[in-house]
Amino acid sequence: MLRTALIGVGGMGRGHLANLIQLTKEGDRIKLVAACDVDPERFENKKVDFNLDVGGDDYDFSKFNCYTDMDDMLAKEKLDLVVIALPTYLHCPTTVKCLKLGINVFCEKPMALSVEECDLMINTAKECGKHLMIGQCLRFWGEYAAVKQIIDSGRLGKPHYGYFWRGGDTPKWSFENWLLRRECGGGALHDQHVHDVDTVAYLFGMPKQVTTLGRTVYPSSGYDSVSTQYIYDDGKVVNAQDDWTLNGTGFAMEFRVGFEKGCAVMANGKFNVYDENQKDITPEFNTESAYVTEMKYFADCILKGTKNTINPPEASRDTIRIVAAETKSADNRGKLTDV
Ligand SMILES: NC(=O)c1ccc[n+]([C@@H]2O[C@H](COP(=O)([O-])OP(=O)(O)OC[C@H]3O[C@@H](n4cnc5c(N)ncnc54)[C@H](O)[C@@H]3O)[C@@H](O)[C@H]2O)c1
Repeated sequence: MLRTALIGVGGMGRGHLANLIQLTKEGDRIKLVAACDVDPERFENKKVDFNLDVGGDDYDFSKFNCYTDMDDMLAKEKLDLVVIALPTYLHCPTTVKCLKLGINVFCEKPMALSVEECDLMINTAKECGKHLMIGQCLRFWGEYAAVKQIIDSGRLGKPHYGYFWRGGDTPKWSFENWLLRRECGGGALHDQHVHDVDTVAYLFGMPKQVTTLGRTVYPSSGYDSVSTQYIYDDGKVVNAQDDWTLNGTGFAMEFRVGFEKGCAVMANGKFNVYDENQKDITPEFNTESAYVTEMKYFADCILKGTKNTINPPEASRDTIRIVAAETKSADNRGKLTDV
């Protein structure tokens, strides 16, 4: 059983809190022993604004220890695992600190603000002999994981086309507005679009180059609207777009993938796979919350010593490499940029 603490009980943190409480009740992998947030109101069951439905908002905070000071918690609690759901600029320093204390780390996406920070996180995990995984949750998300299986099985032939979209309302809930400060979160490109960047790399491999158009809509933010073409030697056509300025629309994500012998589409809340005869061959797919599936998977890697083949931290680092190239391209008005 992994004695676990949650660091950061904001929008995403409350989602993890619900899942960690559920996993604690299941009783075979994780025991939530502590949670920490600088804001004491986070432990008062006040409703938190967020763009995703991450589950319950009525928690029994008496079942674990609550702290407003991370160092205080790390000094007092004996921990096997921390789940970090802090603003992105705190991912690297917090991960490194916990690893050096001998604690395994699950850290939310995006891994960090730079490739150098990602390398530091990976090297520290290796030096300390501890496990590290980043919350690139789409690798565990039913529909996206199903497309990965279709590609790997080859049953529809090779993919030649991919289109990925996500976005919606502007995130205005964040701690000290970090999500709309370029140096803290990198805007929609670095924070939200990173999900589709990771998916592109997972499904199609690393692109050779990117060309990105980005638009800063909120002064001081990073790129709030973004569109990227991913360039591959074999000529695949792959594009991903994000826009978090579409206020009033909520949050949405979709994709279309074209194969030699069919296609897979997720749009308007529906997922369908068609073969070359236009027959609907949609496979069964995982409908458990990807946030729960990823946590169980990571816990098993730690407890059973199994290799993390689905979502190793090196892959998350490569995703940040692509994000960095996209940002550079957008800074140069779409210049073709090596990854
Ligand atoms: N996987 C996903 O689908 C997904 C979705 C949304 C957000 N996220 C990620 O989750 C992370 C958090 O995002 P969010 O939207 O929850 O942000 P948020 O601003 O709502 O929450 C951050 C929390 O961290 C707390 N905090 C700040 N500094 C702290 C410190 N030094 N010690 C302890 N607590 C501190 C804040 O008080 C706040 O409660 C980000 O990396 C974000 O990209 C992931």
